[in-house]
Amino acid sequence: MGIEWRESLAIGVEAIDNQHKELLLRFDRLLTACQTGQGIEELKKLQAFLGEYVHSHFSDEEALQRLHHYPEYEAHLAQHAYFIEQVNKLEEETKSEGISTHHVVETNNMLLKWLLNHISKVDKELGRFIKSSTAR
Ligand SMILES: [Fe+2]
Repeated sequence: MGIEWRESLAIGVEAIDNQHKELLLRFDRLLTACQTGQGIEELKKLQAFLGEYVHSHFSDEEALQRLHHYPEYEAHLAQHAYFIEQVNKLEEETKSEGISTHHVVETNNMLLKWLLNHISKVDKELGRFIKSSTAR
């Protein structure tokens, strides 16, 4: 059971949608790896990827919000900060304890769930705002 990009997750900004696709693809690799007992190895790869990608993705999204004078900017920023905090926490934990299965489960449960919820609600809202402000 994997996770797939679907049109309902599109926010209508191509660059951002492509970044979301990439993120989901990486999480999907983790889910797939879990089925063959490779979860721990794949989590290492995902962590290395997220460390950089999440920062550049969020800063692209935030720049877009500033460009459009998005009124929910501060709240959106706080959500991004929360996710980065979770990624960092996981990083610290796995560095000090080593990666174990519960980190893999946590990543699937927590990080992926957050991401899907964030894209489908918070980022979609941003997409709607941009659409309506550029239509004016
Ligand atoms: Fe976002």
